[in-house]
Amino acid sequence: MFSKMQWGLMAGVLALSLGAGVALAAMSADDAIKARKACMKIGHGGVMGVAVPIMKGEKPFDAAALKVAFAAEDAACKDYASLWGVDTQKGDKETTHAKAEIWSDPKGFEAAGGDWYKADQAVRAATDEASFKVAFPALGKSCQSCHEKFRAPLQ
Ligand code: HEC
Repeated sequence: MFSKMQWGLMAGVLALSLGAGVALAAMSADDAIKARKACMKIGHGGVMGVAVPIMKGEKPFDAAALKVAFAAEDAACKDYASLWGVDTQKGDKETTHAKAEIWSDPKGFEAAGGDWYKADQAVRAATDEASFKVAFPALGKSCQSCHEKFRAPLQ
């Protein structure tokens, strides 16, 4: 689980990489795009795969399954802050749905990430079905509102 400090650090590094266009690591645009898509699809998508059926009442609240999904999310998203450099707006072979607004409105993009983080932490803190169902809607909303502003429609 990310601590507050780790997240603060990541947000700081993200602001740096968005603002100055510094290539933080020797990562190609394709590798960065691949990694952020994996964070989204495997990491965030994996959490949704467990959480949505619980939310809909199709499956019982399952703290253990959620814990596994959140650990996979942490692993898939661990390099998050270094995956959005200005040199990753277009890939060489890799396609991307990242919108130019990520780089023209870095503060807005960072804030959208912060909203996700807060909501994600609240869902992680849920201990039973009732607290989970209170926390989850904000998480779904945080994905959606970032995608509306910063992601081109997926085909
Ligand atoms: C701070 C902004 C932001 C948040 C929060 C966010 N996403 Fe994304 N998401 C993006 C961007 C930008 C892309 C496009 C990345 C690319 O194509 O380079 C994306 C892409 C995706 C994709 C497509 C990946 C692929 O293989 O092309 C999925 C699935 C996805 N997000 C799911 C989620 C889910 C579920 C959540 C919430 C738990 C979430 N995202 C939260 C910005 C965000």
